[in-house]
Amino acid sequence: MGGRTGVSAAPSKESSQIQAMFHDISSRYDLVNSVMTGGRHHAWRRAAALEAAKDLAGGGWALDACCGTGDFALAVLREAPSARVAATDFTRGMLEVAKKKVGSAPVSLGRADTLRLPFRDAAFRTATVGWGIRNVSDTAAALRELARVLAPGGRLHVLESGPPQGCLGRLGFNMLCRGVVPWLGRLITGSKHDAYAYYRDSVAAHLTASQFADLVRASGFAEVAIRSFAFGGVTLHSAKKP
Ligand SMILES: C[S@@+](CC[C@H](N)C(=O)[O-])C[C@H]1O[C@@H](n2cnc3c(N)ncnc32)[C@H](O)[C@@H]1O
Repeated sequence: MGGRTGVSAAPSKESSQIQAMFHDISSRYDLVNSVMTGGRHHAWRRAAALEAAKDLAGGGWALDACCGTGDFALAVLREAPSARVAATDFTRGMLEVAKKKVGSAPVSLGRADTLRLPFRDAAFRTATVGWGIRNVSDTAAALRELARVLAPGGRLHVLESGPPQGCLGRLGFNMLCRGVVPWLGRLITGSKHDAYAYYRDSVAAHLTASQFADLVRASGFAEVAIRSFAFGGVTLHSAKKP
């Protein structure tokens, strides 16, 4: 993996390539998500946002890292209206879409690398990452950075897609991700970077849910809980900073 350090199972791509790829698909990213999941991606974020809202009883700050076009930050705000939400991403195009979507809602958007978050230690009571951790060049370092900015007792909630487990999961992955997704993604976005072939390969190469749980523990978290959706195609890891 050229230029990469630490633990990451995703296929080699430099940060600049990741940014170029997401910038390229940013205007169609939401549409592809809705088509490919039949709109279910909103329900998965809502399930995670309901968990994050438990951390925000009485208000406080939430962080959504790798925020993309802002859906996860807005989902957290919907479930915890008295909270304040900071949302960061390193891709300009994704943040431009997020800015339009967020409008006047109290979400502070900023351009930042999840490996070097511009926040003081223990600033947040909860942190979310949706389908972003797989793309960060050093997964363990990103988890440690998220632990740094969380207050003791605060929780991290990571939604991600990983290699399929079980017969139904493998069948669904082979039908959708190996065939339809790269083709449909290219058709809808016209991606020059073949973003949805990268999606297929990075999902297949990502850690399994239990491997990721081990990494979350090794990165400074406790009480790791796993929920799965879509026959295991999507998982939510929630974990507490001791
Ligand atoms: C698949 S999108 C997910 C967007 C959003 N979280 C969602 O729920 O739809 C992945 C996002 O992670 C961002 N990303 C990847 N690596 C990053 C890093 N090291 N720092 C900040 N953002 C990163 C990309 O720019 C992209 O917007």
